[in-house]
Amino acid sequence: MGDQVRIVEVGPRDGLQNEKTPVSAEARIAFVENLVKAGLGIIEVGSFVSPKAIPQMANSDQVLRAVDHHPGHEFHVLVPNEKGYEAAKAAGAKVVAVFASASEGFSKANINCTVAESIQRFVPVLERAKADGIKVRGYVSCVLGCPYDGEVKPSAVVDVTKKLWDLGCYEVSLGDTIGVGTPAKARALLRATASEVPMTNLGMHFHDTYGQALANLYAGLEEGARVIDSAAGGLGGCPYAPGATGNVATEDVVYMLEGMGVKTGVDMMQLLAATNGIADVLGKKPVSRVASALNAKAR
Ligand code: HMG
Ligand code: MG
Repeated sequence: MGDQVRIVEVGPRDGLQNEKTPVSAEARIAFVENLVKAGLGIIEVGSFVSPKAIPQMANSDQVLRAVDHHPGHEFHVLVPNEKGYEAAKAAGAKVVAVFASASEGFSKANINCTVAESIQRFVPVLERAKADGIKVRGYVSCVLGCPYDGEVKPSAVVDVTKKLWDLGCYEVSLGDTIGVGTPAKARALLRATASEVPMTNLGMHFHDTYGQALANLYAGLEEGARVIDSAAGGLGGCPYAPGATGNVATEDVVYMLEGMGVKTGVDMMQLLAATNGIADVLGKKPVSRVASALNAKAR
């Protein structure tokens, strides 16, 4: 597998956006700082979206400003439109992420527009980002199924992924938003998408609702994909994806990769401390297998 796997830690954004317990900006900042200590170099720290839609991500400007001082680290934030871009830029963002869907039902529920309209909204964001020297990552949601429309054809995913790539996204992350995929489907999807966008520029963003995320990642790694989105503690979910659970846990990914001889640069015990820290804030135990195993061992 080589040693070129890149982990994009999405816990402070995807993880916390779905939590009912309000998490203060201070606790979000402490979580990000603990992830930095653990050796994670790319961390998605918040979103500049409507606070009516996702109140959990209000004050993402405070979080970004507080953490954005580690040389060599990237701190990403989501932006759905120019208004979000403007606010992210004002807060000093150097990397933003736009997010589209492969299915119309989720697009409407999540960002209140059609897939085509969302792409149109991203055009000025990408243009401005290019002029401002800000990198833009893309997401495609519902790549292996939609909570509203059911089955999603790979061709729909390929189409949206190519549009984001053509607009200038440096990488497009494929989101199994509701975690319904299985390895053969994940493999086929990556193969299909890589016909239009280089495999090394595709991310795997797999939620673990049905316990398949690690297996799906392994299939993707075998295909040559090298970018993995994961969330410390297996936190995550989207309020507009009912029933979906968290992202694949970063500690589970790190355990698997290191076990395969892939160096991640992540210190597992520091990562566990970050996971336990945010679990304490949320008042619940981490759901990830590795965190549970290591916590049990420590007891
Ligand atoms: P809308 O209602 O169609 O937008 O929402 P609008 O332009 O009509 O604006 C409505 C109000 O929102 C206005 O305020 C705007 O100013 C405000 P009001 O006049 O009512 O007081 N507004 C904003 N405020 C702050 N920041 C902004 C912004 N834009 C408008 N950027 C909109 C459209 C996209 C804004 C809304 O639907 C929204 O914010 N949705 C957020 C959805 C979201 O964050 N979902 C979770 C992230 S996606 C995800 O989790 C999937 C992913 O993990 C991958 C995967 O797993 O598949 C990435
Ligand atoms: Mg997600």
